[in-house]
Amino acid sequence: MVVATLLVEHAAELATLAGPPGPRRGAQQAEAGIVRDGAVAVGADGSIVAVGSTREVRRAVQLAPDARVLDATGRAVIPGFVDAHTHAVFAGQRADEFALRLQGHDYLEILSSGGGILSTVRATRDASETQLRQAAFSALSVMLAHGTTTLEIKSGYGLDRETEVRMLRVARDLCARGRPHVVATLLAAHAVPPEFQNDRDGYVDLVCREIIPAVARDGLARFCDVFCERGVFSVEQSRRVLEAGLAFGLAPKLHAEQKSHLGGTRLGVALSATSVDHLEYADDDDLAALADSNTVAVLLPGAAFLLREPRSAPARRMIERQVPVALATDYNPGTAPIRSMPLTIGLACVCVGLTPAEALVAATINAACALQLGETVGSLEVGKRADIVILDLPSVTHIPYRFGENPVQTVIAAGEVVVEAVKSA
Ligand code: NIG
Ligand code: FE
Repeated sequence: MVVATLLVEHAAELATLAGPPGPRRGAQQAEAGIVRDGAVAVGADGSIVAVGSTREVRRAVQLAPDARVLDATGRAVIPGFVDAHTHAVFAGQRADEFALRLQGHDYLEILSSGGGILSTVRATRDASETQLRQAAFSALSVMLAHGTTTLEIKSGYGLDRETEVRMLRVARDLCARGRPHVVATLLAAHAVPPEFQNDRDGYVDLVCREIIPAVARDGLARFCDVFCERGVFSVEQSRRVLEAGLAFGLAPKLHAEQKSHLGGTRLGVALSATSVDHLEYADDDDLAALADSNTVAVLLPGAAFLLREPRSAPARRMIERQVPVALATDYNPGTAPIRSMPLTIGLACVCVGLTPAEALVAATINAACALQLGETVGSLEVGKRADIVILDLPSVTHIPYRFGENPVQTVIAAGEVVVEAVKSA
């Protein structure tokens, strides 16, 4: 009999998210794999050793003498959230820009006049590695307390080799702490730095010839991303960056069709991108291309909401057409100072029309697939990392319903209890 060092039992609803390998599409996007009176048992190596009804799991495992047993009576238990798109390493904040946007100023106009992303670039270039690490560490603690056990972090506020590398070293240090688990993405093509304002192609050359090789050589990123947008990087420039990344083993991702329709989605599909993200302006041809591919659509409803974007991502059409949908906070100081996946699920339900079950799939297993981690996290299945969240809610349907609250009671990361909030019974 297998030995368990930790057991969560008697969950009113255990959402296993178990299913076939790969991202869930169409009708499968709504299958959360709910078990009533559910339990999940963890072995000494921090992986899941049994999952099912409390009766089944109790029969399948032997508790170690010092095993911890958590009673989840009346509560929902889910896999840790996977936040598949964040810009969590940066210096400074942009509350004044937020206030300007509330008065009607446009996000891309603010950027083209040297503010927006470029103001965070100035602050980040001026910050030491220690300052960046401390700020990001405190943000990650907030995320962990909201149930995020895995997240992606992009660079992109350096826009020069030294600062991009510094940001990714911070991401690597955070990854070494392991809670939450971090995956790094190089986003040197996030904006055109002031030094290259009149020579965009010159900056693309620098990214391709210097920054990508330096980052790949030190193993500092798994993915390469680009902001493919009107007035930022064209489809052709994006292609050059992503192909250069591929040549160095970095898998492509894109910020695509966020503020206009430019063609980034189709470029992403042509390059077998792991994900294309945002997609407010994606059209039916984009959805057809995505449906025929392994690329995951990552939606960021928090950014669209705070930008007061008039168009929302066509999430319902995506699901109807078999496009796998994932969710992420997009945590960044400009468009989305949001660190909560439960809030993001609420926004996804209200603003883009996902059902609570579809949003949960999007925030767990599909988000894991958007980071090429679908085999290790994102569901409660034997052999996977024991990233488990106990919610102070009777059902997963209550996650969006309790809009704006943090419903997380206990967070278990790789089998260790890392957050225990005091909540009323
Ligand atoms: O995902 N769109 C580009 N990048 C980020 C925003 C970054 C920023 O404004 O600092 C996004 O929305
Ligand atoms: Fe982003």
